Amino acid sequence: MNIIVTGASRGIGLEIVKALAATNHSIFAVSRNIKALMYLEGVCRKIHEQCKVYTVPFDLESGDYNRELLPNIIGKEERIDVLINNAGAMINKPFIEVSDQEFDRVFSVNVKAPFKMIRALFPHFRKNAHIVNIGSMGGFPGSIKFPGLSVYSASKGALATLTEALAEEFKDKGIRVNCLALGAARTEMLAEAFPDYNAPLSAGEMAVFISDFALTGHKYFNGKVLPVAVSTP
Ligand SMILES: NC(=O)c1ccc[n+]([C@@H]2O[C@H](COP(=O)([O-])OP(=O)(O)OC[C@H]3O[C@@H](n4cnc5c(N)ncnc54)[C@H](OP(=O)(O)O)[C@@H]3O)[C@@H](O)[C@H]2O)c1
Repeated sequence: MNIIVTGASRGIGLEIVKALAATNHSIFAVSRNIKALMYLEGVCRKIHEQCKVYTVPFDLESGDYNRELLPNIIGKEERIDVLINNAGAMINKPFIEVSDQEFDRVFSVNVKAPFKMIRALFPHFRKNAHIVNIGSMGGFPGSIKFPGLSVYSASKGALATLTEALAEEFKDKGIRVNCLALGAARTEMLAEAFPDYNAPLSAGEMAVFISDFALTGHKYFNGKVLPVAVSTP
């Protein structure tokens, strides 16, 4: 399979690529941080010497998807089986202090980037492709909310709704779209959101679930927003 993982430079995304590296799939690891991606490529090679991990340096906010991103992916593999929209941006600030720029950055990475990514890749998705959007319990309807995370949670709520809408729209193409609303996993982003909280799951543990789900979940789910949480937050 040909798999794209965004936000691969650290945290959960990095661990997803490591988990997938043990398989014989081709993995395209996307982030702005070329150094981190090259390091990851080396780590993956130690996990599985023959692994096919391609580094794709790209800014999901300001990059040109058709001119800069696609040639780095479609130039190597014509068809895409799995897209994991994992990259995320978070702002932890009282609502009244959030600037327009901060709002735009969070929505740009969490909502607009998955939209642009899916639109650019649309002609290249194989029948039965699986798009996995990484949401958050913060954006899950009716979940407990936390002060300071209004914009982040709203963006993840928008991503969840986009998931449901696209699953319906892509039904006839055989492309399945799901959203995993993650609970806490130990990463730098979690430390920024909840500095004193020690989450029960590591990024690696969360990543193992996400990679398994990305490979097989579309046989069982479409258009679903699934909570993946053992704790609050
Ligand atoms: N950790 C948790 O407890 C938790 C809980 C709920 C949901 N989530 C969600 O899970 C996903 C991963 O979270 P995480 O904790 O692993 O986050 P993280 O450690 O902060 O990593 C975020 C990733 O997103 C990438 N990214 C951000 N802006 C980008 C941009 N403009 N262009 C390209 N890449 C960009 C970063 O790459 P570069 O900076 O290298 O470009 C980085 O690899 C996120 O969507 C997050 O919202 C996490």
